[in-house]
This record gives sequence, structure tokens and C-alpha cells, in this order.
Amino acid sequence: MAGATVLARLESLRGARVVVTGGGGLVGSRLAGLLHRAGAEVTVLDRMDAYPGPVHALFGVDGLGVKVVRGDIRDREVVRQLLAGADHVVHAAAYADVAACTRHPGTAFRANLEGTEVVLEETAAAGVRRLVLVSSAAVYGNGEERPGQEPQEFHEDHTPRPLSVYANSKLWAEHQTRLLLGGSAGTEYAVLRYFSVYGDPQVPKPGSHSWMVPWLTMQARLGRPMRLNGGGVQVRDLVHVEDVAAATALALTEERMAGQTVNVGTGTPTSVRAVGELIAAHFPGSRFVTTPLPPGDPLGGFASTRRTRELLRWSAGIGIREGVDRYVRWLADTPAALPDWLSESAA
Ligand SMILES: NC(=O)c1ccc[n+]([C@@H]2O[C@H](COP(=O)([O-])OP(=O)(O)OC[C@H]3O[C@@H](n4cnc5c(N)ncnc54)[C@H](O)[C@@H]3O)[C@@H](O)[C@H]2O)c1
Repeated sequence: MAGATVLARLESLRGARVVVTGGGGLVGSRLAGLLHRAGAEVTVLDRMDAYPGPVHALFGVDGLGVKVVRGDIRDREVVRQLLAGADHVVHAAAYADVAACTRHPGTAFRANLEGTEVVLEETAAAGVRRLVLVSSAAVYGNGEERPGQEPQEFHEDHTPRPLSVYANSKLWAEHQTRLLLGGSAGTEYAVLRYFSVYGDPQVPKPGSHSWMVPWLTMQARLGRPMRLNGGGVQVRDLVHVEDVAAATALALTEERMAGQTVNVGTGTPTSVRAVGELIAAHFPGSRFVTTPLPPGDPLGGFASTRRTRELLRWSAGIGIREGVDRYVRWLADTPAALPDWLSESAA
């Protein structure tokens, strides 16, 4: 969806006070920039410690002209002060890495459950008009389990089958949002299930197996073989961060989104290997190696987009080929984005 169209549809946010938790991260910083351009008064709350080194600086939230508060969503006083007088909240802060949540379930619990609880309670108490909860397609797990069939289309009313600590924490947040908001609380809510978000300036996290576009691109750029977990047979619906930011901002304003849960994906399945091949085309001589499939890594599927088109009136505008091209160009122009821990690690 074209940027000018999105901005025109965000006209009602002019002058509105919007708090974005996790606004210093990949998606949150892109969203904060968009909301600022739409004329909203944006406040970001973020611990700014999701990445080692200067990655948060790369996301550039400090240079956007929005208010940035370094703090934890579990700090009730801070959350209460920031939410006083807020019109809208986007709750995007999370311990947002599947593998890290598996390694450190206690940290996942504190950030994704306890932290979410504080945000929800204080949102209701502050009389915020609408909260958008950022959830994940991870809640679908492997979906309806039909081995040997075509890639699965995930519908919002499929029974969730979380396969990881991360996915379970997101599903809990969805239920808790529905239970604490939307009823007599007077605060509306909307839930977005993002599929696989990618796009510059995304940088992988150490020990993570998510985020294949930066992983594979960086491996190819370092002249290393591109590792395909499980041979790259998994299917993902890759949705560009610019599209995701637009969908999230629109979820604050679209009337029909009140009380609804929708997918944020392109509706197009792409195998991990196919993504690798798009990247390989930019790096002559690059090659693949197969590595084991990590536990909790779903075989995947793609988004049903019907409800999103109807209720959010949004569909993705950036296809995977264009998105990969953009990422490869950005990395070539921004070589400092390659993290030291990755350059220095064994191939
Ligand atoms: N990137 C994806 O593919 C994807 C897919 C589905 C859902 N999501 C969800 O989208 C949201 C944004 O993810 P992202 O990809 O931008 O990841 P990210 O790690 O770049 O951003 C998350 C931000 O939350 C902040 N944060 C974490 N715990 C916090 C706490 N206790 N208090 C304050 N701030 C805290 C981090 O510092 C970070 O800046 C998350 O909720 C994530 O679960 C992401």
C-alpha cells in the first residue's frame, strides 16, 4: 500500500498521543516514525537492550523527533506516567526471539506475560481509547497437522497450537487482552498476528534461528555457506517491515478492527530455500549447507488475508523479491550493520 495513501488514512491520528512499547526495536521504530509523520505525538518506551552493540542506534528512534523513554514495561510507575492522557497504545515490546525464549523461559515470562499484564492494566486504568496488541503467527504452530499436504493457509479462527515458549506467551497475551479490555473497561483492542517480518535495518540476534533474510544475506556477504535449517523446506510468509508498520498504525484507527484479531502477512508462501536462492543471485559463488531443524521451529504456512483486507483494509505492497533486493542494497551501503559477533564467529 502506497505511503501517501497510508498517511491520508491516518489523518485522525494528527495530534493524538500514542505510546509505543518496544518502539526502539525493528518494527516499533519504523512504526514510531510513521506515526510521527502522521502528526501523532509519539512516546516510545523501550529497554533498548534487545541487541548487543549499536543495533538500536541503527534503528534510529532517537533521531525521529519522538519522545524516547528508556525503561521496562514491568515498571508500573513508569508505565502509569506515560499512559496518563494517552489516546492510543501499541504494545510491541516483547522478548521477541523464539530460540531465546526457549533458552530463558523465565525472561520470556517476565517480559511477555508480567510486562503485558502491567501494560494492559494501566491501559484500562488510563482510559486509553484503543490498544493494539502485537502478536505472532507463531501461535498457529504447525496448524492443522496435515503431513504431506501443500503449505497451510492460517486462518484467524484456526485452533492455536503453540509449539514454543514464545508462541505460548503470545497466545496468553492475546487472551489476556481480550479478557481485560474491550468489555466494560471502555478501551478497545485489536490484535495483529505478524507473520515473518523482514527488511532493513534488520540485524540477527546471537543464538537466534529466526530472521532468515538478514542471516542468509550476512552469511553470503561474509563469503560463508548459507545455512538452511532442515534443508530450507520450511515455509514462511515474509512481510516487509514497512508494510507491517503501516498495518499496525491503521489498526489504531480502523473502526471495524475493534475487538478483532487479524493476520499481518502477504498471503504468499515462500520456502526458506527460495529466499536463499533470491539472496544467492546477488552473491555469485555462494552455496548452501543443510543444518538440523531447531526444536520449536514450525514447518510454517502463510496468512489468510481475507479478514485483514475486510476489517483493516490493508494488504502488503512489497513482494519478497523487491524486499530482498532492498535488503541486499542496504547491507552493501551499511557494512557496519554486520555485527562483530557474527563476523568474528566461526563459519
Ligand atoms: N520480527 C518478527 O518476525 C515478528 C513476528 C511476529 C511477531 N513479532 C512481534 O513484533 C514485536 C516487535 O518485534 P521486533 O521484531 O521489532 O523485535 P525487537 O526485538 O527488535 O523489538 C522488541 C523491542 O522490545 C523491547 N523490549 C523487550 N522487553 C522489554 C521490556 N521488558 N520493557 C521494555 N521494552 C522491552 C526490546 O528492547 C526491543 O527494542 C514483538 O512483540 C514481537 O514478538 C515480530
